[in-house]
Amino acid sequence: MVGNVTDEAERTAASAAARAAGVSVQAGVRATEPEPAAEPGIAVEMRNISLWYGQKQAVGNVSLDVPRNRVTALIGPSGCGKSTLLRCINRMNDLIDGVRIEGEVMIDGANIYAPNTEPSQVRRHVGMVFQKPNPFPKSIYDNVAFGAKINGYTGNMDDLVEESLTKAALWDEVKHELKKSGLALSGGQQQRLCIARAIAVNPEIVLMDEPCSALDPIATQRIEDLMLELANDYTIVVVTHNMQQAARVSHKTAFMLAEDDLVGRLIEFSDTDEIFLNPQDSRTEEYITGRFG
Ligand SMILES: Nc1ncnc2c1ncn2[C@@H]1O[C@H](COP(=O)(O)OP(=O)(O)OP(=O)(O)O)[C@@H](O)[C@H]1O
Ligand SMILES: [Mg+2]
Repeated sequence: MVGNVTDEAERTAASAAARAAGVSVQAGVRATEPEPAAEPGIAVEMRNISLWYGQKQAVGNVSLDVPRNRVTALIGPSGCGKSTLLRCINRMNDLIDGVRIEGEVMIDGANIYAPNTEPSQVRRHVGMVFQKPNPFPKSIYDNVAFGAKINGYTGNMDDLVEESLTKAALWDEVKHELKKSGLALSGGQQQRLCIARAIAVNPEIVLMDEPCSALDPIATQRIEDLMLELANDYTIVVVTHNMQQAARVSHKTAFMLAEDDLVGRLIEFSDTDEIFLNPQDSRTEEYITGRFG
């Protein structure tokens, strides 16, 4: 067992270091990552995802390709399954009793629902930011360092904390008070702290479920700017109720709807401009023009 833990820690540290250096390590093979292409690859491929909470089906047969290094928005009326679908990307629904999922979610060519895949491994590559900022009752520093410590990070922790807070556009505001509690920050700062915490473990994908809905307009704008910046390094999937926000920050938009049977389905998925300027489905048009939802 001890040997396994050590191996795992070494692999994680090697992987973290390699990824920091722009090198990806997969299945023991180290390959230099290609220059970013004009057309992004696919970061997450959802194939025929259906989900049931007990007897009740909440998501029906959704297939969706999330492009790498882009912001993809999930929009649709309350209860249409946006959060549920988002949580399928990091196996967070596994934590809910009675959930059954069909279909596949491919990340880096592997189905995260394959029988031998550990949900905790998946969550290491797929970070999550929630609607309500939820810092741990710990210092700012410890909030950011938390995941890396658990993963056995062997690099320089001070550098990692600074780098993550800088990427989350929070460093300048907190650099002189890193020992202060994360809970003592403003709501907008707490949300940026949670983003710093999510990216400190160097995920490939960051999921955000209505990350601005508890924030004022200025804090919201900071997070929106940040999402676009982060897309240079990460793949972002964001659930939002705010259509202006989807139009401002996302490259791709998926519109979901639960009709009479209350099963959330994907109605349309396209470039954000297309969805907002030239929707192909009348239901999309009705939603974005505010006629329902
Ligand atoms: N833990 C749960 N147990 C049972 N049913 C659930 C659970 N979570 C969500 N649901 C149901 O699944 C459906 C989809 O919910 P979900 O939270 O994904 O919708 P949503 O689009 O994110 O809505 P909102 O915009 O209000 O956040 C709803 O009918 C909801 O009641
Ligand atoms: Mg939701």
